[in-house]
Amino acid sequence: MIVANNIKKIKSILKIQKTANQVIGFVPTMGSLHKGHLSLVKMAKSKSDFVVVSIFVNPIQFSQGEDYQNYPKNIKTDINLLKEEGVDLIFCPHPRDMYPIDFSVFVDETELSEVLCGKSRSGHFRGVCTVLVKLFNIILPDKVYFGQKDYQQALIVKRLIDNLNYDIRMYYLPTIRDKDKLAMSSRNRYLKDNERLDSLCINEALSLGRKLIQQGETRVFVIVDKMKNVIIKKRTAKIVYIEILDAINLKNLKIVKGKILIALAVYINGTRLIDNTVINVK
Ligand code: PAF
Repeated sequence: MIVANNIKKIKSILKIQKTANQVIGFVPTMGSLHKGHLSLVKMAKSKSDFVVVSIFVNPIQFSQGEDYQNYPKNIKTDINLLKEEGVDLIFCPHPRDMYPIDFSVFVDETELSEVLCGKSRSGHFRGVCTVLVKLFNIILPDKVYFGQKDYQQALIVKRLIDNLNYDIRMYYLPTIRDKDKLAMSSRNRYLKDNERLDSLCINEALSLGRKLIQQGETRVFVIVDKMKNVIIKKRTAKIVYIEILDAINLKNLKIVKGKILIALAVYINGTRLIDNTVINVK
């Protein structure tokens, strides 16, 4: 396994793989890896000849006052985990190499980014799109792997791949949950025991949303209100948003019908957690 931080070196290694007609699978990450990431890596291993994982905490996708400086970093553990998975190349660039002093070109998705996390984290998806375009241009992957926990991100990346004519096949894998059903996230490491208990209200609210729909409730405002009641009971929880949207175009809905997304973002004592579920309603 090669671990490299130099962009030129990475490009030359990957050029050799490309020339040898190797199918390149790529999993972009910000490190502090958990089973969710590893499920993407395992899938990449099964579907490609040469697997690249990037570990890069991308400064430009954090807004001011967010946790960029404190974002969990476990590079040694990450490298060992990826070695065990049989990853071929780890790319961990330096922020200054990714964003030199004269960096002034950004990539904006202007539709799907307007709602949910895009509304509450100004500039976030601009940062995500920009770093992914850079990573795609450096790595030239044939296949990329994303998780459903970041549903909006996955939808935006698909749009980016299509709109910018990348010949990349995107795989989109289910959210991996811990035993207590909390969606795996690098930010879960911030949670103290009592906060972890409180955070379970997120999945409880999603389960309630699903149950209400199964029981025939169709009014979005009723479902969202009942979900809110589950969250506000927890002392450390503060809702950023709970929304039910069309899962394909992220447009607002009054009545649930077709493929719908229930998505929420909640602060648990300052730790921002997101989760979602997608349902096909007849
Ligand atoms: O989902 C993430 O970890 C990040 O947004 C990504 C895709 C690695 C871009 O920095």
